Amino acid sequence: MRAYIAGVGSYTPDKILNNFDFEKIVDTSDEWIRTRSGIQERHIAADNQATSDLAFFAAKRALKSAGVKSKNLSAIVVGTATPDMPFPSTACLLQKRLGAPSIFAFDISAGCTGFLYALGIAENFVMNNYDNVLVIGADTLTRITDYTDRTTCVLFGDAAGAVVLKKGNSASGILASHFASDGSSWQLLHQPAGGSRMPPSHETVDQRLHVIKMQGNEVFKLAVRAMCDAAVITLKKANVSASQLKLLIPHQANIRIIEASAKRLHLPMDRVLVNLDRYGNTSTASIPLALDEAVRTGRVEKDDLVLMVAFGAGFTWGGVLFRY
Ligand code: UT7
Repeated sequence: MRAYIAGVGSYTPDKILNNFDFEKIVDTSDEWIRTRSGIQERHIAADNQATSDLAFFAAKRALKSAGVKSKNLSAIVVGTATPDMPFPSTACLLQKRLGAPSIFAFDISAGCTGFLYALGIAENFVMNNYDNVLVIGADTLTRITDYTDRTTCVLFGDAAGAVVLKKGNSASGILASHFASDGSSWQLLHQPAGGSRMPPSHETVDQRLHVIKMQGNEVFKLAVRAMCDAAVITLKKANVSASQLKLLIPHQANIRIIEASAKRLHLPMDRVLVNLDRYGNTSTASIPLALDEAVRTGRVEKDDLVLMVAFGAGFTWGGVLFRY
């Protein structure tokens, strides 16, 4: 028996900012953003949209594609770094809005690896008699983006992606996974204020401490190494070689990180899903958003082997290998 992805869905808000829009906001250029990150445009949540609103639409689409009704869900796990509010969890807000019964629902925080962590947790529930688990990656990073900082503001977009995980006895399903973390370099990517260490105050707002702080080039090096490690270890656990993969779905942070990872795995880029040109870095949403695109465009078909790898704040990283 295995946990398998029975349905997938995603949602991106309507508003789009392209690189030329950023030329009017900070000292940057379309050429710099495209060549250094690979991003051309990103979707931005409307003023009245919070993370749970994006997640709701992605969840509805995933439930429809799985043919599962919300009343038959047994758990909701949301990976997010930008919940609607510190508490209650975004998952609880979704339980109510989706009309699910009084099932258990919770958020997990693992930076951009949040969706894969959530999937790993959900797999364990599914294999222990909780069928139909809704797993979501949803973030509105643009709400904590500093639009005066050119080194970060051009990178992020908002989105949500969701899958329904079920238990089945076919060859399809999750074959192996690997998760890791190392908190020793946490300062390289963090949001300083708003938590218990630095509660909100006029000073924290004046000093712009409620926004993403990132030392991009340091994060870059760690990301390539960690995503490759995650890929190699996950593949090894299932005794599968990279050459057998139909598709690699990496976290979409930077095209150069993706290309370097693919090169180290000896994978040609036509077997790597890239959509960050249209969405930027959508944090926990990036992998389910890319998976949804892969399924809808036929790049992933039944029985294909797919490897998802991510890296994010913490630092956290991980890989999940499945047969679709
Ligand atoms: O999702 C979680 C994980 N996050 C990531 O994986 C992000 C990893 N990092 C990156 O994607 C890249 O490091 C960035 C895209 C953020 C930056 O690219 P980089 O090639 O590492 O640039 P850099 O930070 O080394 O900066 C090079 C130069 C600097 O100027 P000087 O000091 O050489 O004069 C920056 O000030 O580029 C400058 N720069 C910019 N110039 C124009 C930085 N941002 C911009 C910008 N427009 N938007």
